[in-house]
Amino acid sequence: MFKIDVDNINGKTESLYVFGEQSILTELEDNQILLNHSCRQGHCGLCILQLLSGDVMHQDCLVPLSRGEILACQARPISDIKVSVRDF
Ligand code: FES
Repeated sequence: MFKIDVDNINGKTESLYVFGEQSILTELEDNQILLNHSCRQGHCGLCILQLLSGDVMHQDCLVPLSRGEILACQARPISDIKVSVRDF
């Protein structure tokens, strides 16, 4: 079981524990933590998170990502992770 810490969500940090079998986006939704998203297929880039620590398994995506960025809909944790929501 892995811990996901989400910084900067509604002005606070949320923590949840997951098995790593679903995308981070789905895990957050299952815990009533809502992120911007649209396609859920790695195309739109709305679900970008900053990976602050830990490792993820990332599926293919068509969005150019900067260093440390992941797509919540395409990544699942393979260790405890800490992520941050981007400020737009
Ligand atoms: S929801 Fe579109 S890239 Fe993740």
